[in-house]
Amino acid sequence: MRIIVMDNYDEMSKRAALMITSQVMLKPDSVLGLATGDTPLGMYKELIKLYNKKEVDFKEVRTFNLDEYYGINRENLQSYYYFMNSNLFNSINIARENINMPDGMAKDVNASCKGYENKIKELGGIDMQVLGIGGNGHIGFNEPNVNFEAETHLVNLEEQTIEANSRFFTSIKDVPVKAISMGIKTIMNSKKIILLANGLNKAKAIERAVNGKINPNIPASILQLHNDVTIIIDKEAASKL
Ligand code: GLP
Repeated sequence: MRIIVMDNYDEMSKRAALMITSQVMLKPDSVLGLATGDTPLGMYKELIKLYNKKEVDFKEVRTFNLDEYYGINRENLQSYYYFMNSNLFNSINIARENINMPDGMAKDVNASCKGYENKIKELGGIDMQVLGIGGNGHIGFNEPNVNFEAETHLVNLEEQTIEANSRFFTSIKDVPVKAISMGIKTIMNSKKIILLANGLNKAKAIERAVNGKINPNIPASILQLHNDVTIIIDKEAASKL
């Protein structure tokens, strides 16, 4: 694991955006794995700036998002589909048909998850996967006590995650209790991984993911076994290392 500690959130975001840009320059039809949440927002803003300056071109890029809430449709303002459109896709030249998101309204969830996995494989696998981390060490929506072997699947969200994500909803009752997430196996099959974290509330999860034993209770700890992980964090998130 390479750990890069940046002074603040903006610097973290810029560094991550540069890594994505370099990836796309080296391989214009890169398959990117993308994340939602507050953490990557700054990185997406930077990517849009770089795109506007013509420093990166997304014309041939393909994307797969890590996760999506289950039971809310794409028009819902809290869907990750909506998030990705408003925070990145609508502002760059990615081709619509190259965007892949788990289907939060799938009737046959198993078939839909299998189809998602197959498509990733058909396109040659994920070249660079971006991850955030939950306060409980989750990646994607792979909650503690994770099955390290799982591929894309339906998950039950933990109380802590529902509570953390309730800030985006009118009431905690509106937060979906299930989600579709790439599994740990899907994430570990990515060729390169960058994990971003900022703020004191992530310091413990980062410390346990980096220095702790590999343990299903801290899903991110499995990343210690991946051979190309870069962790880009601000000083606060690094404060317990
Ligand atoms: C969410 C998402 C994760 C994200 C994490 C942290 O529940 N499913 O993909 O990395 O929690 O979110 P944030 O970046 O808002 O702290």
